[in-house]
Amino acid sequence: MGKEMTKISDPIRINRTTVKNRLTMAPTVKFDYAEDDGKVTPKHIEHYRERAEHQCGMICVEATAVTPEGRFCKTHLGLWEDGQIEGHRTLVEECHKFGTVMLIQLNHTGITANPECGPAIGPSAVPTRDENVLAKEMSLDEIHSMQEAYVAAAVRAKKAGYDGIQLHGCHSYLINQFIALKTNHRTDEYGGSAENRARFACEIIRAIRQQCGDDFIISIRTPGVEPTVAMAIEIAEEYVKAGCDYLQVSTGIEWDDPTLVEDGSPYNLICAMGVRFHEHFKGRVPVSCVNSIFEPDLARYLVENDLVDTVDLGRAILADPAFCEAVLQGAPFVKCFDCPRCQYGPFTPHKCPALLKRS
Ligand SMILES: Cc1cc2nc3c(=O)[nH]c(=O)nc-3n(C[C@H](O)[C@H](O)[C@H](O)COP(=O)(O)O)c2cc1C
Repeated sequence: MGKEMTKISDPIRINRTTVKNRLTMAPTVKFDYAEDDGKVTPKHIEHYRERAEHQCGMICVEATAVTPEGRFCKTHLGLWEDGQIEGHRTLVEECHKFGTVMLIQLNHTGITANPECGPAIGPSAVPTRDENVLAKEMSLDEIHSMQEAYVAAAVRAKKAGYDGIQLHGCHSYLINQFIALKTNHRTDEYGGSAENRARFACEIIRAIRQQCGDDFIISIRTPGVEPTVAMAIEIAEEYVKAGCDYLQVSTGIEWDDPTLVEDGSPYNLICAMGVRFHEHFKGRVPVSCVNSIFEPDLARYLVENDLVDTVDLGRAILADPAFCEAVLQGAPFVKCFDCPRCQYGPFTPHKCPALLKRS
């Protein structure tokens, strides 16, 4: 007898936690919801509660700064101090009522720091947002105190009731900067080999495991290509050895490998990275893919053909908080228009279909 087909509605175990279906909400920052104090606001709670209510299996709350200097902007959610725990506790409680597993993404901008928030620092003195300004190369002491900031934020996340955290290891931010050859030119134990470039995150993973316990989910969002798939997998293997429970694959700094996706493929290059990771890690570590999954059929196709373990939804679930019900039950839904710069962020004067629907 062949293996039974996995359905999108099937539960999955991640570490010791059961997620009720294969649909997860990707971290998607709400730039205009927080104030300068980085605390959760009622708008955040309603935003996530609504998506939990509509059957999302797991939500990864948006990029959350581990220090005020590492924020994207002054209105960025934070977990850099204990006073921020309470708001997260309410947010988690509201979503747990619907049986949704809750993670939170932890981040520092590093070299891409916003000068309004703090100086650009990173593994090496490479160009910052301003091509003419170089980042400050972090000393070993600075590396260690930055690692402590990530761990302290994870401990606060656990106190707030989160089931786990996701380290942001993608999209050119600090952990990504450590693994990428373009931004890490160090010759000490944090540069050179894959093991050394992954060390910054691996030491964070081990310390979180020690302080937050065996059943706390430790996930990482990691590039599927950096600058090749094989090299990105080598890094991810280090994360797994350090105790990472879940790999959520997205883009890195040097990720453009068009050979990954065949002509006529129903999913794009970025999704294909997750598919390749799943092929490699199958049966050992669950893997998610992301990007432009706007049709319920595509979400089902990816899981039912055993191409990935979970499907991570960004703009589809922003455009319609009930998108998961469209996937699970075939309910009607509002489709994301795939605007060139997502209009759910404060980027353009136009409104997302979801926001239009309400006004
Ligand atoms: C408004 C907006 C905010 C985002 N914020 C984050 C974030 O906080 N952390 C992150 O890793 N990715 C972030 N992303 C990227 C998404 O998680 C996702 O990878 C991307 O949108 C592609 O998936 P999609 O096609 O399903 O939207 C953001 C994307 C959008 C559109």
